Amino acid sequence: MAKDPVATADLYERAASDRLGFWGDMARENVDWDTEFTQVLDDADAPFYRWFADGRLNACVNAVDRHVAAGLGDRVAFHFVGEPGDTAAMTYGDLHVQVQRAANAIEALGIGAGDRVVLYVPNLLESVVAMLACARIGAPHSLVFSGFSSEALRTRIDDAKARLVITADGANRRGAPAALKPAVDAALAGGSTSVEHVLVIRRTGGDVEMVEGRDVWWDEALAAAPASHEAQPFESEQPLFILYTSGTTGTPKGILHTTGGYLTHVAATARHVFDARPETDVFWCAADVGWVTGHSYIVYGPLLNAMTSVLYEGTPNTPDESRFWQVVETLGVTILYTAPTTIRMFMKWGEQIPQGHDLSSLRLLGSVGESINPEAWRWYHRVIGGGRCPIVDTWWQTETGGMMVSALPGLTTLKPGSAQVPQPGIAVEVVDDEGNPLTGDTTGYLVLTEPWPGMLRGIWGDDERYRKTYWSRFPGRYFAGDGAKRDADGDIWLLGRVDDVMNVSGHRISTTEVESALVSHPVVAEAAVVGAADETTGQGIVAFVILRAEALQGTQDLDALPRQLRSHVAEHISPIAKPRSVLVVEELPKTRSGKIMRRLLRDIAEDREVGDVSTLADSSVMDKISAGMSAAPPED
Ligand code: PRX
Repeated sequence: MAKDPVATADLYERAASDRLGFWGDMARENVDWDTEFTQVLDDADAPFYRWFADGRLNACVNAVDRHVAAGLGDRVAFHFVGEPGDTAAMTYGDLHVQVQRAANAIEALGIGAGDRVVLYVPNLLESVVAMLACARIGAPHSLVFSGFSSEALRTRIDDAKARLVITADGANRRGAPAALKPAVDAALAGGSTSVEHVLVIRRTGGDVEMVEGRDVWWDEALAAAPASHEAQPFESEQPLFILYTSGTTGTPKGILHTTGGYLTHVAATARHVFDARPETDVFWCAADVGWVTGHSYIVYGPLLNAMTSVLYEGTPNTPDESRFWQVVETLGVTILYTAPTTIRMFMKWGEQIPQGHDLSSLRLLGSVGESINPEAWRWYHRVIGGGRCPIVDTWWQTETGGMMVSALPGLTTLKPGSAQVPQPGIAVEVVDDEGNPLTGDTTGYLVLTEPWPGMLRGIWGDDERYRKTYWSRFPGRYFAGDGAKRDADGDIWLLGRVDDVMNVSGHRISTTEVESALVSHPVVAEAAVVGAADETTGQGIVAFVILRAEALQGTQDLDALPRQLRSHVAEHISPIAKPRSVLVVEELPKTRSGKIMRRLLRDIAEDREVGDVSTLADSSVMDKISAGMSAAPPED
């Protein structure tokens, strides 16, 4: 790197000698407070920790207003790139005008501090404006990924008891408009939800059914709203957003994040890990705003640092497989943050595609979502980074709010495949089954031994589930659900989930969620789902189903069934949860206590010799499944 890194080694020293003092400094350096906090951490009600609790601030003012006040109104906040090729640059000044109008428009619909607002939106400038406007008025936003089904949307709206939904008429997906508004209508059908209004952003055009008295066009509401809005400071622990994520049971968990600690964590990590140079960088986090990566590193982290970012609406192969590299070349992107599954896809498409573009503006690369295998790391480094860009592999979760384990560019000697070291102020350990800390070169479970500012504050409406899920396995410590290895140098290597959560293309999907969707189909009696290793997507979903006898007696076309069931799951949850294959079996391997042995099914799905079957109630089951598998028809 040409310049000295933004993060310096003394950060580690400061954090190690006085962890809370360090976070207090980070909160003061990265965030503006209307009322200074006097205490960094309140742990009286652990694990319900409170950070900077008597401080007061406004998240939107921190992300936008203060930069305009500092004379940065003309700096571009976002270069928007639409999938059809339309572009727009939004400056901090423009964003300031828009968030004020939007805050007024949302308040005019009767929404105030504490009211939940669900956003079912793709990557649009209006989506970011809507998030910030909610933050400005203290109304927690809850984004639902725009690829989710109406049923998944409804579950989340109901759980959050949202009063307002913000959506778009449609999104551009793979070269064609895909309607979004009908899914909102379906989710609200029956009128049993808490929702009073729906704001609709115009994106794709065409006919949209608007419900009289309920639905309002976003552009009309903003045009009618006053251009200035005075922001109020809120308590540091004011809820900022709820983001639903998959857990080990069927119902998604509403992960709650609050204001002061979260902003401190994402601002500091964006600055240090991305070596942020806001005057010159063009930063591109190629995620969707509907996931935590989008929240923390498209929206809050970069904006708090007054950075210029790219916001891309579409997929990497629309209109063709060079789309990313055209964007990098045209906009002079300096930092690219993406997922290993995308990198492996680029590898598959061939290095001649990026090589046809000038990527010399890039100076730093990032990876998130799953471990990056050394082969993909080296390709990313050589082909995309021209051999000169450091790669930061960042481990974190929806629950952690921001990055937790990652190299710091210019400081850490990089090691392909390892997420490497905890961030300054973050304390991790690798422990054994009983929770004993393991020293030296070792393999076990990753735990976080001290609270951190960006941590989740709970599961929306379910304190007990919060305690049980994260704090009971190893009392007093946060259990991340990931296996980890630490090598002799002390570097951390993530080994994947140790629970029933799958990681498909960096998306978290629970086995139970897919199983529930399968058994909701009338022909399915029972289902078991496993994540099997997949070259491109990390894991692929393989489902084993037992059919109902009555369905078999009917006119059911058994050959067409796997395809139907795959579509059924896509409709119930989302296309991202669609099984790679569905296998019809007569029985499932169960222990004597009736628990499905997924380990054995994974052996089959990964085409391995089946492991120890001694705990099965009926050990012949595996032979039957294997025999049935070889007779199964191939799938698309
Ligand atoms: O298993 C880990 C994996 O993704 C999980 C968190 O998923 P989610 O909450 O959807 O957030 C994804 C984006 C932050 C983790 O428990 N994971 C995420 N990043 C990495 C990773 N595994 C290995 N290496 C990573 N860099």
